[in-house]
Amino acid sequence: MAKIARISHLQEFKDQGKKFSCLTSYDQQTASIFDEAGINVLLVGDSAAENFLGHESVLAITIEEIIPLGRAVASAAKSSLVVVDMPFGSYEASTEEAVRNAVKIMKATGAAAIKLEGGRRSASQITAIVEAGIPVMGHIGFTPQSVHALGGFKVQGRGEGAEDVLAEALAVQAAGAFAVVLEMVPADLATEITKQLRIPTIGIGAGAGTDGQILVWTDFAGLTPGKPRRFVRQYANLRNELLEAAKAYAKDVESSNFPNADESFSD
Ligand code: KIV
Repeated sequence: MAKIARISHLQEFKDQGKKFSCLTSYDQQTASIFDEAGINVLLVGDSAAENFLGHESVLAITIEEIIPLGRAVASAAKSSLVVVDMPFGSYEASTEEAVRNAVKIMKATGAAAIKLEGGRRSASQITAIVEAGIPVMGHIGFTPQSVHALGGFKVQGRGEGAEDVLAEALAVQAAGAFAVVLEMVPADLATEITKQLRIPTIGIGAGAGTDGQILVWTDFAGLTPGKPRRFVRQYANLRNELLEAAKAYAKDVESSNFPNADESFSD
């Protein structure tokens, strides 16, 4: 079995110029598969709101809802580094509340780190949580919890906005984060940020120049209905596979083809 991942390993990857892989996971089964596959980081993202819990938006997920998902993933992962998202509303109001909720998530899930969104506006929360002994992953660029403030799903940092995204990245690093997610940022800007930062960057819709890449697992596995977003590569078509399997099962049950004698008990 590969040794358990630590945040220091991600820094070693960056220092050695090695890329690393991250996927979201919200349950025990996918966590154990992705862990076995050698995915370096499993993020129990607040995207679970839309992809697992049936909420309309990431804004709706609560600490109480994300904790059992985090526990399931952390208990199944033997080697991957498990990071749990801090839900919207759990860290913005004060550093005290941010620390209290980060501690709650760490205690209840067994994860190795938490992630929260925002650059300069979240810097004091990042520092306070790190000072409490909890590793923090930052998240800047397009931050889904601020979708309304940002005016929708838009690429961040185009043109004159580039300086601002760079400043956000530097703020997250200065606050003490061990890594930062760059979401929906032009590829050239993400490459430049990656060069300027000491800590690893993890891209989603940020081109190939970041230290790591992350995808939402239901997108990468082709489970999310509808047209995938531009930055998603589908590595499987699980939606179709499951659809065909369920249709075949229903047909077999209707025609009494399931179960057969081998699938039944005798006296
Ligand atoms: O919740 C999530 O899935 C995320 C990734 C998009 C980075 O934050």
